[in-house]
Amino acid sequence: MILSPSLLSCDFARLAEELSALEAAGITWAHLDVMDGSFVPNITFGPPVIAAMRRTTKLFFDCHLMIDEPGRYIDEFAQAGADLICVHAEATNHLERVCASIAQSGCKPAVALNPATPLEAVRYLLPQLSMVLIMSVNPGFGGQAFIPFCLDKVRELKAMIRAAGAATLIQVDGGVTLDNCAELVAAGADVLVSGSAFFKHPPLPERHRQFQGRCGG
Ligand code: DX5
Ligand code: ZN
Repeated sequence: MILSPSLLSCDFARLAEELSALEAAGITWAHLDVMDGSFVPNITFGPPVIAAMRRTTKLFFDCHLMIDEPGRYIDEFAQAGADLICVHAEATNHLERVCASIAQSGCKPAVALNPATPLEAVRYLLPQLSMVLIMSVNPGFGGQAFIPFCLDKVRELKAMIRAAGAATLIQVDGGVTLDNCAELVAAGADVLVSGSAFFKHPPLPERHRQFQGRCGG
């Protein structure tokens, strides 16, 4: 299990310190929530802030783009220092093309599905995707409650990936806590995003150990 803390819950005035605290806590991924105020009702940050963070850390940047028509900005996010770029299936009519352009930019391609979006949206793309993100809250805000049917969605996606013989990772994002993380990993989750449940309980090394203790990794 890889834990990818969502910086949405950290102190934006101290991003460099927060990133180095994550590294010191043995974290390897950072989940960067990019919101445009249109695809989701909230606005966060974009490529300039990611480029500034990139200069301070070697953490793997897992960039979750909650923006309309993400194909317009793939090169900018890649140049800013993204390692993985995750776009929403609901945000473009040309998902295959956008995923191909992410791979072309040198980043790992991933697709996110809102809670109500069926898994069929990614079935034929699995061989070319590094990861599928199962949203377990409606995107836009941290601190929301996990939507229970998403656990079944993770199980079904795991079976779909196995049947396709693909190596696609499953990420779960939204309402992940110490209480549900073991169940999610048992259902097939490889990468867990945690914002409020991770950052609101410092010290971070201990919190990381608690997650590892519950679900391994
Ligand atoms: C929600 C974001 C999540 C969020 C997770 O739109 O994509 O990454 O910050 O926060 P928690 O863990 O608090 O649900
Ligand atoms: Zn996210």
